[in-house]
Amino acid sequence: MTILKGFHHLTVGVRHAQEDVDFYVKLLGQSLVKKTVLLDGEDPIYHLYYGNANGDPGTLVTSFPFRQRGVMARQGSGQVRIINYSVPVGSLEFWRRRFDAMAVPYDREIVERFGERRQRFHHPCGIEFDLVESDLDARPACLASGIPEAHAIRGVHSITLSLRDVAESIRFMNEVIGFRSVGQAGSYYRFETYTGGPGMIVEFLHEPDRLQGSSTYGEGTIHHVAFAVDNVEQQAILKEKLFALGYIDTSESVHRNYFRSMYFKMPGGVMFEAATTDIGFAIDEDPGHLGEAFHLPPWLVDRKDELLGRLEPISA
Ligand SMILES: [Fe+2]
Repeated sequence: MTILKGFHHLTVGVRHAQEDVDFYVKLLGQSLVKKTVLLDGEDPIYHLYYGNANGDPGTLVTSFPFRQRGVMARQGSGQVRIINYSVPVGSLEFWRRRFDAMAVPYDREIVERFGERRQRFHHPCGIEFDLVESDLDARPACLASGIPEAHAIRGVHSITLSLRDVAESIRFMNEVIGFRSVGQAGSYYRFETYTGGPGMIVEFLHEPDRLQGSSTYGEGTIHHVAFAVDNVEQQAILKEKLFALGYIDTSESVHRNYFRSMYFKMPGGVMFEAATTDIGFAIDEDPGHLGEAFHLPPWLVDRKDELLGRLEPISA
């Protein structure tokens, strides 16, 4: 039985909050589906969740805007390097015109890999994104003003990890966490889980000479990727398997309000997470009103005004 059923979310350390909201909502047509605050110490930081209008797992990217706190991270190997969003075939020219109109930096060349055309562009904090054309993605379109359904993003297509060594990580994907190898193209290795296709794809980029990146939270890196698991029972089965095979760098199951998380390091150093899909964003906001209000965990509710007063104002 497959335990990891594609992506749940990606978590990214970015620069300023408003430019991050503008990138996902105004440029890419994503919905801001949850606004909350992280407090680990004295200084609050926003925790912003973007995805399709339903906030479905597999469409979610979450941000910590670290500029206000001044915490930088270093890009390098041992990290998720690229977030790839899927769009229908024939969409890249629309997006290039949109990038031009909105002054978003993008690569001049459209490249093709594993039979899919892809367009690289950049988040204001420097993180790389690709739009990947696929007609295999049946998820609902992320509709927004100026983005026709025929070209709209469907969700996270795949992620690209930067790894100095790949041999043990390939074994880990195939023999430990239930992915299967589906192809190699030069320095790229592709894996799929569960039903395969967009939302189920991980790529390795073998970069033996790339210096190791930092693994702590900070501005400018993708901190971790979360895969979807049904519930804590499935999470526990995965943890038991990791332990049995010697991968003991795993966390307890942590309550994240909207899901439960178990973190584990893969051999190449990238932080993976197994996040449950049995809770969701509708526990404190009605579907259709996701992301409208600020939501704090119960132990911080009394300090809402004070904490928000110390954060840069944002509007979606
Ligand atoms: Fe996470």
